[in-house]
Amino acid sequence: MSVKITQLHPRFGARVEGINITRHMSENDFNDVRTAFEKYSVIVIHDQDIDDDQQIEFSQRFGDLEMMAPHLGNDEKPRHISVMHNEDRNGKIIPPEDERMIYQSANMIWHSDSSFKPIPSLCSMLHARILPPKGGETEFASMRAAYDTLEPDMKNYLENKVVIHDFATTRKMVGGQLSDWQKKNLPPVRQALIRKNSVTNRKAVFIGGHATLIEGMDEENGKSLLAQLLKHATQKAFVYSHQWKVGDLVIWDNRAVLHRGRTWDVANHKRVLHRTTVAGDGPTV
Ligand SMILES: [Fe+2]
Repeated sequence: MSVKITQLHPRFGARVEGINITRHMSENDFNDVRTAFEKYSVIVIHDQDIDDDQQIEFSQRFGDLEMMAPHLGNDEKPRHISVMHNEDRNGKIIPPEDERMIYQSANMIWHSDSSFKPIPSLCSMLHARILPPKGGETEFASMRAAYDTLEPDMKNYLENKVVIHDFATTRKMVGGQLSDWQKKNLPPVRQALIRKNSVTNRKAVFIGGHATLIEGMDEENGKSLLAQLLKHATQKAFVYSHQWKVGDLVIWDNRAVLHRGRTWDVANHKRVLHRTTVAGDGPTV
């Protein structure tokens, strides 16, 4: 069966059919998926009955995996899989006021995974295991659409700007503290504000919750410009909202889209998604 691609949103996102991750995918089929990924930024593959090892193996076809930072969402034990969940080890729902849930609430801020690392990630994949009957969508916003629709003067102004991304910024937003490990290992980093994809030649505005300051601008003006860009990038017309089904595997390009999780009835329903993240290939500045 050959790969079938259907666009999901006028500007980005595609559903890919005709592949099964549990069976070995031919190099040709994988190339189709990889090409679609570069073009559409968000790839949705339904009905994948996979375990963590199969998800890791498939993710590695995109490149080396990032080791997740130790955090409350992975029991402080870094590994290749990070579980987004509100279910404890005994299968019970974690109360919304629990520290682990407060930690995970940062997922509801628009962000690009790992933009706070010196080499930000290429892509992330989420596999849906348990879902609530309603809510819990993941939204994606195209940073390419954001770039394309800026005024030419603004594009020029932003071209060589450098943004400081800081993990502590999103922690502060949800009222959380950095652990000692995070303080030591996740200092603020520099990222290009405008990134160009070398395969498609398309540019994107690289921003999100970790973006904190703009080099060469005073704090207030930098923050205000970042807020203005974020508002522009996440306007309704540039957002695809993914309504999850169990078995969905969604792959997104962290260089080209922002994402955020949406809430659900967390006190009464479980939501469990397993994530892998593929490392990027170099610094952006
Ligand atoms: Fe994320």
